Amino acid sequence: MFLHGTSRINDAGHLEIGGCDVTELKAEYGTPLYIMDEQLIRQRCREYMDAFRASGLGFQVAYASKAFSIMAMCRLVDEEGLSLDVVSDGELYTALQAGFPAERIHFHGNNKTPDEIEMAIEAGIGCFVVDNLVELSLLQAIASSKEVTVNVLLRVTPGVEAHAHHAYASTGQTDSKFGFDIGNGSAYAAVQQASDKANLQLLGVHSHIGSQIFETEGFQLAVERIADFTRKVKEELNIDFPVVNLGGGFGIRYVDGDTPLLVSEYVAAITDAVKTHFAGIGSSLPQIWVEPGRSIVGDAGTTLYTVGTNKEIPGVRKYVAVDGGMTDNPRPALYESKYEALLANRATEANEETVSIAGKCCESGDMLIWDVELPAVQSGDLLAVACTGAYNYSMASNYNRIRRPAVIFVQNGESDLVVRRESHGDIVVNDIVPERIAKKAVTK
Ligand code: LLP
Repeated sequence: MFLHGTSRINDAGHLEIGGCDVTELKAEYGTPLYIMDEQLIRQRCREYMDAFRASGLGFQVAYASKAFSIMAMCRLVDEEGLSLDVVSDGELYTALQAGFPAERIHFHGNNKTPDEIEMAIEAGIGCFVVDNLVELSLLQAIASSKEVTVNVLLRVTPGVEAHAHHAYASTGQTDSKFGFDIGNGSAYAAVQQASDKANLQLLGVHSHIGSQIFETEGFQLAVERIADFTRKVKEELNIDFPVVNLGGGFGIRYVDGDTPLLVSEYVAAITDAVKTHFAGIGSSLPQIWVEPGRSIVGDAGTTLYTVGTNKEIPGVRKYVAVDGGMTDNPRPALYESKYEALLANRATEANEETVSIAGKCCESGDMLIWDVELPAVQSGDLLAVACTGAYNYSMASNYNRIRRPAVIFVQNGESDLVVRRESHGDIVVNDIVPERIAKKAVTK
């Protein structure tokens, strides 16, 4: 397994992260356990901030909290000077409870409810990323009833769709549930409407072209399309866009063969493209905002499991089951995502067998890794799966009423609990048995 950040194998042959031996972490916190390498998260934050500072452009780096939204993470991101992107009242509440400065919160989503909009306006958030005309009217109505003016970016689809492992395509994005299409004129119409509305301050446009992107071409093409659009809006409507938000999607290395660029390379490609394509539109270059999620937290996360049972099917394969699975990491089941693993308590031993790692849910699709080489695995061994920091805890479920794991931050030989493991009580905390049914049970 590739060792990310501060991960290393110590003299005892154990995996160590942030100076903490995972066998000790297991003894203290149990498994499954999400272990977050705090130093690596901070390093990624700084890579973004430094790269943008070096560009000389105005900027905000908004951490896309959907990747991993907990209060400690919001605090850490605030300390590092980033902004925050939220998509629901739950993510907004988490940020506010953590004391994240509201003016650096951006609110996304294709179906913000009136309650969510009210909550965000009352909190005084920095910007709404408006997705459609229904939202535009709703936002204006609520802002005017509260006699405030709110900042708005319009989410646009520039006709660029990019995915890792696929070539970027310049068509296809028109058919998206998100945003106003530039190509078919709806973005232009939305700019006209937004700029006409009292109580809305139109700052500019937003685009997000995909996820786990390993190349710069898609971002550069998006910048070019948005610059052409900005020029048209300036020339025909005399409207300026002081802000252009280019979303997230910067790729990370999950497994051998993944070839992400350095953060500094993505940022330089974007800021250079902005300098080239926005030159001469309006009096100054726009501020550039981005929204990295996965690339801030993804490789900082490791999930630690305890091995339980196994099943060998002669001539077919050996299944090794761990005490978690699709409930703590739904990505292999959802997206066929690939992960690497190592035997964390015997990390220096030579690989002896090829096994497939199964979860404990009642579902055949609950597999974490197909065909991984490991030393001879035994019950009680610790299995570490790398690169689980993004979209694991945030997408975890209670399927089979399995309790969600604890999350810890580790750094400099110390560990801190940042989310406690769910208890059996948590599993039933919202359950209500209507009295008529409860009575029946008693009289039986
Ligand atoms: N901004 C917007 C508007 C987004 O929709 C997203 C991700 C991001 C930023 C952050 O993208 P990132 O830098 O993390 O790639 N559950 C999937 C990923 C869904 C991403 C949704 N939007 C997964 O586990 O791969």
